[in-house]
Amino acid sequence: MSPYLYDLLTPALILDWPIAQQNIERAASFVENKQVRLRPHFKNHKRVALAHKQLAAGGCAGMTAATIFEAIALVDGGIEDILIANQVVNATSINLLIELAKRANLRVAIDNIENAKAMAEVAKIHGLEIGVLIEVDIGMGRCGIAPGEAVVNLAKQISLLEGIRFDGLQAYEGHAVGILDTDERESVAISSMQKAINTKKQLEIAGHECRIISGAGTGSFRATGKLEDVSELQIGSYVTMDWSYKERIGDQFDVALTVLANVISVSENNLVLNAGCKSIGHEMGPPKLRDYPLAEIPTFGSEEHTTVNFPGHKFKVGDFIHMIPSHCCMTCSLHQDMLVFEGERIIDIWPAAIGYPRKN
Ligand SMILES: Cc1ncc(COP(=O)(O)O)c(C=O)c1O
Repeated sequence: MSPYLYDLLTPALILDWPIAQQNIERAASFVENKQVRLRPHFKNHKRVALAHKQLAAGGCAGMTAATIFEAIALVDGGIEDILIANQVVNATSINLLIELAKRANLRVAIDNIENAKAMAEVAKIHGLEIGVLIEVDIGMGRCGIAPGEAVVNLAKQISLLEGIRFDGLQAYEGHAVGILDTDERESVAISSMQKAINTKKQLEIAGHECRIISGAGTGSFRATGKLEDVSELQIGSYVTMDWSYKERIGDQFDVALTVLANVISVSENNLVLNAGCKSIGHEMGPPKLRDYPLAEIPTFGSEEHTTVNFPGHKFKVGDFIHMIPSHCCMTCSLHQDMLVFEGERIIDIWPAAIGYPRKN
């Protein structure tokens, strides 16, 4: 393969390393001299090599994973501290989780006593104790139980089981991170996170030590990360970024991830690119073109094409264009390879940790 960006086959998922590195450093500097730690969310990019770069920059407690698949990739990749910020309920997955817990400090979110019992039973057989965070629903309405008494009751039930240890709370303010207005976003995030903090106080009064509150996203961590009791920030998108996050959070981080495409057809008002929804995530809206703010992508229905409305454009067939996704995490999952570049030179290729595990 040629080491030059504009010799690549397209569409290609590409990462501008100096920008990504700067994003990583900016996040690390946010936690400098604070007690709170970063726990970068692997779901953003699913590249073990990039996870190692995030951890090497400092200020991290470990990585966050969304799935058992991601946890396997991280443990196999030598990462030693992992939180699966989701429920793992399938019996095969629980067995695997306990196997992984022999090789790494692994915690998992739970919101149900039957799930806790199932994990405790397997852990006990293996002579292990698995650490769990009770997921508390602080407003997102996804998983989790109500803050307050329900959490205290579940912690009490867990404390009676062997093989499982209550370590704290999983509390993600995901309903706040998408709010466009910064003041409103931060105020919703803070009032939501306060519910987890109040629950921690109730837990402690009831005699259950609550060492961890883990939550936050790229759109909210600067607000919730200042709250004294929040201990881990599970930010993901900050490394790669996308245009929808950029619109919400401005200068905090820059877009490092684009999909490199070619112009395959032109007319006076339109151009067509060779990348469609099989190459670029668009759940937050159609992609945008880097460097061409006047270009409009009104619809985005094709699998392998994007039609751009751009009257007066000067593009020719064969020209290269950087497409910025509306959703970086989905875009990273659509490609096996992430090509990492600096200037116009490809400096690395990072494969995605996607697919059914071949080992175990
Ligand atoms: C559990 C959890 N934590 C944190 C995040 C934050 O991710 P991001 O920083 O990409 O918004 C997410 C996003 O989906 C999430 O599901």
